[in-house]
Amino acid sequence: MSVQERVVYLAGDGIPKYWYNILPDLPEPLPPPLDPETKEPVSPDKLSLLFPMELIRQEVSSQRFIPIPEDVREVYRLWRPTPLIRAIRLEKLLKTPAKIYYKYEGVSPPGSHKPNTAVAQAYYNAREGVERLTTETGAGQWGSALSFACHLFGLDCRVYMVRVSYEQKPFRKVLMRLWGAEVIPSPSRETPIGSKILEEDPENPGSLGIAISEAIFDAANNDYTKYSLGSVLNHVLIHQTVMGLEAREQIKLVDDYPDIIVGAVGGGSSFSGLFWPFYYDKVSGKAEKDVSFLAVEPEACPTLTKGIYAYDFGDTARLTPLLKMHTLGHNFIPPPIHAGGLRYHGDAPTLCLLVKNGIVDAVAYNQVEVFEAARLFFQSEGILPAPESAHGVKAAIDEALKCKESGEEKTILLMLSGHGYFDMKAYEDFLQGKLLPYSYPEDKIRENIEDLVREKLIFY
Ligand SMILES: Cc1ncc(COP(=O)(O)O)c(C=O)c1O
Repeated sequence: MSVQERVVYLAGDGIPKYWYNILPDLPEPLPPPLDPETKEPVSPDKLSLLFPMELIRQEVSSQRFIPIPEDVREVYRLWRPTPLIRAIRLEKLLKTPAKIYYKYEGVSPPGSHKPNTAVAQAYYNAREGVERLTTETGAGQWGSALSFACHLFGLDCRVYMVRVSYEQKPFRKVLMRLWGAEVIPSPSRETPIGSKILEEDPENPGSLGIAISEAIFDAANNDYTKYSLGSVLNHVLIHQTVMGLEAREQIKLVDDYPDIIVGAVGGGSSFSGLFWPFYYDKVSGKAEKDVSFLAVEPEACPTLTKGIYAYDFGDTARLTPLLKMHTLGHNFIPPPIHAGGLRYHGDAPTLCLLVKNGIVDAVAYNQVEVFEAARLFFQSEGILPAPESAHGVKAAIDEALKCKESGEEKTILLMLSGHGYFDMKAYEDFLQGKLLPYSYPEDKIRENIEDLVREKLIFY
C-alpha cells in the first residue's frame, strides 16, 4: 500500500472480495416490487424473463456480504482499485478549512463507475447461457459500460440511446460501436412503443423511461436475450459498493473519516455505492463520526426533492413491476439538460426509503451553477467532471463554503463518478452561454402526479 500526500492508492489486491448489501440493515423492510395486474409482490418467475437467476437472487437477498466472483475481480483489475484523491488545490481556492476527498471512477475503460455493475451483470448472464443483452442509456455512460462488458464476455449488445443524447454526444456512440454494440436512438421504430411515440411526436427528445420500455420489449420478445439495467435495482447498487468499500480503506490510510458524503443521483447507484459501506459502519456502531449523506439532483428533474413517495412504473410504457420510490410520474419527460444520466423520473427504492426516513438528505441545483462548479473543479484539480458528477461537485463546494463560514474542519467525501471528456458539446454550450437554468415548476409536477393517481396508475 502506498500513501502519498494527495492521492491514496490501494496497492495490489486491494479490490474487495465481497460486495455489501444494505437490505438487512435498512431501518424498515423494503416495500417489494409489485405485479401491476395483481398488486401482489412480483414472482421471481416473471422477473426471469428479463434477468438471470443469480441477479434475481441478489435483488432480494438478505445476505449482508456477497462474494465477488474471481472472474469479475479479474476484469476489475484493469482499473481498480480506483484512486481516492484529496482536492488540495480546490480547498485552497475556496479558502476552506474543510478537507475534500473524491473517489475518482473516471479511470475505468468507459470513463465512469458504470462498469462495476456492467461487468458483473454480463458475467452472470453469460454464465447462465444468455447470448444477447439489451439496455437503455442516457448520456451514453451506461451504454458504453455495458458494451465493454458484453464484449469481454462474448455477448451481443443492443443499446437504446435517448435521442437527445444520441445527437448531443456523438462520440459515445463510437465508443459503444468499437466495443461491438448496436446503438439505436430512442424513441425508435424498432419497437411498437417507440413507433407510437414517434407518430404522435416526431421530434420527441426521448427519455430514460421510454428507452427502458424499448429495451425491455426487445428482451422479452427475442430468444436468448435478457435486459440489463444500469441503476435503481438492488443488485446494481450492491455491485457498486466496491467503490465505498475501497474508499473506506483508503480514507483510513490517511487517518481520516468523512463527516459528510455527497454525490449526484440519477437512479442512485454511484452515490449508494459510495455511502452504503459507511452507512453500515453507522448502523453497526463502527463509524468514527456521525457521518451524514447528501444526494444531489438537477432542478430540471427533482425526483427526491419534489417527487412523491409512491408505487410507480419504472418506464413510460408501464412494462416494469411497480416500484416504491420517489417519482415524478412515469410519463414525466424532463427538459433536455446536458446531464442525460440524471433525467430519470424515479430513483432506487433503497435510497428513497432512506430519504423518507431522514437518513439521507437531498438537494437540487440548476445546470448553470453545476457547470460553474465543474469549471472550478477542472481549473483547480485538472479533471473535467462528467456533467452528472458535477452535481456532486457543486454540493461539495457548497458544503466546503459553509465550513468556511462556520470555521468547521469537516471532511467531505465526494463521488466523482466519471470524467466529462466526451461531453464537450455540453461544455461548449456552457462557454457560449447557451445553457438554461431549467427548474421544473412544482405545480406542473403536482398536476401530473394527481392525474396519474386519479387514473390509479400510481398509488401510495
Ligand atoms: C458519470 C455518471 N454519474 C452519475 C450518473 C447517475 O446515475 P446513478 O445515480 O445511477 O449513479 C450517471 C448516469 O448515467 C453517470 O453517467
